[in-house]
Amino acid sequence: ASGARVPALVIGTGYGGSVAALRLAQAGVDVHMIEMGMAWDTPGPDGKIFCSTLEPDHRSYWLRTRTKAPLNYFLGFPIDRNISRYTGILDAEDFSGITVYQGRGVGGGSLVNGGMAVTPKRENFAAVLPSVNADEMYNVYYPRANAGLGVGTIDPAWFDSTPCYQYSRVGRKHAQRSGFPFVFVPDVYDWDYMKQEAAGTAPKSALAGEILYGNNHGKKSLQKTYIAQARATGKVTISPLHKVTSVAPAAGGGYTVVIDQLNTNGDTAATKTVIADRVFFAAGSVGTSKLLVKLKATGALPHLNDEVGKGWGDNGNVMCGRANHLWDPTGKLQSTIPCSGIDNWAAGGAFAEVAPLPTGIETYASFYLSITKNPHRAQFSWNAATGQVDLNWQTAWKQPSIDMAKSIFDKINAKEGTIYRTDLFGVYKIWGDHLTYHPLGGAVLNKATDNYGRLTAYPGLYVIDGSLIPGNTSVNPFVTITALAERNIEKIIATDL
Ligand code: FDA
Repeated sequence: ASGARVPALVIGTGYGGSVAALRLAQAGVDVHMIEMGMAWDTPGPDGKIFCSTLEPDHRSYWLRTRTKAPLNYFLGFPIDRNISRYTGILDAEDFSGITVYQGRGVGGGSLVNGGMAVTPKRENFAAVLPSVNADEMYNVYYPRANAGLGVGTIDPAWFDSTPCYQYSRVGRKHAQRSGFPFVFVPDVYDWDYMKQEAAGTAPKSALAGEILYGNNHGKKSLQKTYIAQARATGKVTISPLHKVTSVAPAAGGGYTVVIDQLNTNGDTAATKTVIADRVFFAAGSVGTSKLLVKLKATGALPHLNDEVGKGWGDNGNVMCGRANHLWDPTGKLQSTIPCSGIDNWAAGGAFAEVAPLPTGIETYASFYLSITKNPHRAQFSWNAATGQVDLNWQTAWKQPSIDMAKSIFDKINAKEGTIYRTDLFGVYKIWGDHLTYHPLGGAVLNKATDNYGRLTAYPGLYVIDGSLIPGNTSVNPFVTITALAERNIEKIIATDL
C-alpha cells in the first residue's frame, strides 16, 4: 500500500531478485518484490497460462500490436502477425542497432528462456568476472545456484533414441566430422517429464513447440524454484504489474520508491510511494541500467559514479541456419529445449548451441544460437530531449560475432558440402545479427558498484542482477547471474544487516 515502510524492497523478480528475496527472507527480513510484468499464474480462456509459439496471441508480447519473432522469416516469408496490445510475457525492446529480448512477469527471463543452465569453463572465468574469487565461485556459489535452480542433463541413452532430438544428433554428427568438440548442455527443464511427454503420458510443452512465450509444463522456471521457496518463508510479498520509476533518499532515512501500478494495456492506473530501508536493483541488465542512468542524470541519485551505464554487452549472440542434404532430415518433432552445443571457444571464440526449429514440419535445416567473444561494449545514456535512456550499440559491431561463428559453420559447410540458410532472417539474409537474448552489464561489479554490488554512495542500495556482469559469460548467462547473486547476498547479509 502507498505510504508503507518496508525493510527490503526488490525491484524485479528474475534471477538476481529471486535469490536476494529468498536469502533475505531466510535471514528473517521481510521482503517486498515489485514486478512490472504479470503474475502468470492464471489460465486464460483456453485453459492455458501461456500461449503457443506457433499461434501467438495477446499474451505473447509486451505492449506490441504485432509480434516480433526473433526468427522472423521462413522460406522467405515474414511470419509476424497482428496481436492486441497487452502486458504480454516477452519484451522485444528496440534500441538503435539492436533488439533486446527480455522476460516480463514474476520469474523474469526464466519464464521465456530455453532453460539452458551452463556453468562457464573454469579457465574462462577470469575473463567473465575478473574481480571475483574463482575458487569460491566453483566450490560454493555455482554448486549452490545449480542446486537452487534444479539443473539437470539429458539421459544420453534417451538422447540417442528419441525422435525429438534427431536435430541435435545431426548437429553432433556434423560437428564431430569437422573435428569440433560436441557437448551436452544442462537445462532446468524436467528431463523425466520430457520423457513422459514423448511417451504420450503427460501434457506436452517442450514437445508441443512451447518456448519464448512461456512453457505450460516441464520447465522449472523461478516460479517453481527460488520464488516458491521464498514465498514458503511467509516473509515475501510480490506486487505484479507494478513498475518502479524512482528511488531517492528519504528525509527520515531509507529511500523513497515511486511505483506505477499498470493495467494490462500498460497504462498507469495508480502511483504509489513506499519507503524502503534497503533497495535491491534486480530489474535485469537493461531495466537496472535504465533506472540508474535516469536517476543519476535527473538528480534523484546524483552521486552514483560515472561507471553507471557503461560496460554493456550482448554476450556475442548471433544466430544462423544451415541447409542440410535431403538424406539428413532433422525431424518434424523437435524438442524446444536445446540440449547440446559445439565448443570452439578457445580456438575460434564461439560456443554454438544446436537449437530447434520447432515448426512441426521437416525443414532439413540445422539452426544455431552462437555465443561469441565479441569485444564491443556499449553505454546507456540519458536523453533529456526524449526523456528516455539510449544505448549506443551499432549493428556493425556484430561482425566479430559473425566471424567467430563462421569459424565453426564455414568449416562444417565445407566438410558436408552444405550452405547457409538465407530465408530465416529476411530475404537473402544469413545472419540473425539484429538481436540479443543475453543483455549483460551497465552497472558493472567493482566499477559502478563495489565488489559485492553495493552502490557505495548510497548505503542500502544494491545491484544484484545481470547488469553486474561486464558483457559476456562465454556461455548462457543465468547460472552465473544466480551464482553471483548468491555470493553477493551472503556477504551483504553477513555484514550489512
Ligand atoms: P531478468 O530479466 O530475469 O529479470 C528482471 C525483471 O525485472 C523482469 O521480470 C522485469 O519485468 C522486471 N523489471 C524491469 N524493470 C522493472 C521496473 N522498473 N520495475 C519493476 N520491475 C521491473 N539464459 C540462459 O542462461 N539460458 C538460456 O537458455 C536462455 N535463453 C533465453 C531465451 C530468451 C528468449 C531470452 C529473452 C533470454 C534467455 N536467456 C537465457 C537469458 C536469461 O533469461 C537472462 O540472462 C536472465 O533472465 C537475466 O536475469 P536477471 O536477474 O538479470 O534479470
